Amino acid sequence: MQKTDNRNLRQKVDLRAAICAQLTEPLRVLDLFSGEGRLWSAMRERFAIASYTPVDEKPRQPGCIRMKVDARTVRAFKVQNFNCIDIDSYGEPWEVFAAILPNIKTQTAVFLTYGHVGMGSVSISKFLREACGIPPAWEVPSDKTLARFLASSTCAGSSPGGRSASSQWRMKTSGITASSL
Ligand SMILES: C[S@@+](CC[C@H](N)C(=O)[O-])C[C@H]1O[C@@H](n2cnc3c(N)ncnc32)[C@H](O)[C@@H]1O
Repeated sequence: MQKTDNRNLRQKVDLRAAICAQLTEPLRVLDLFSGEGRLWSAMRERFAIASYTPVDEKPRQPGCIRMKVDARTVRAFKVQNFNCIDIDSYGEPWEVFAAILPNIKTQTAVFLTYGHVGMGSVSISKFLREACGIPPAWEVPSDKTLARFLASSTCAGSSPGGRSASSQWRMKTSGITASSL
């Protein structure tokens, strides 16, 4: 199955719009897997964007920072400079999110795309297993529902108030988080 950049563009934009409407300041966006920037082009039609910083390992829009984003490289960004962070990766966003979460100290909208290729079967990453305290020797079924459950019970879970915290990762955020499509 092929990787698709924006299979749910409308839903992704609507989700971002609903959350960003709660922010009180103009948007300062760090777009970590920016691609062609379709999401934030659409958002620009609805919101004033004070600053936009696109990042991608294969830049496809002007001004894009060429960088392979991972848990180590993402620490190069001063996340305090942004009030909106988009992690629209193809695979799991959790490790990158976990790397920046301790530095998010003010109200910040974070969008996580959990993308996977295939129908029902999805492997549970080493990172997610460790975050959930699953012993390495255990056999864990490659199941999409289980993967989502584990992720939501660690750092991606959103309460109705929009806050998210992870005791297992010993991280807390006072910002808004939302998991995406
Ligand atoms: C789902 S697409 C992003 C679509 C984009 N948000 C938009 O609005 O058009 C994922 C993007 O992540 C980029 N990418 C994948 N792995 C990456 C990595 N490790 N570091 C940086 N960019 C990566 C791909 O080049 C691709 O452009």
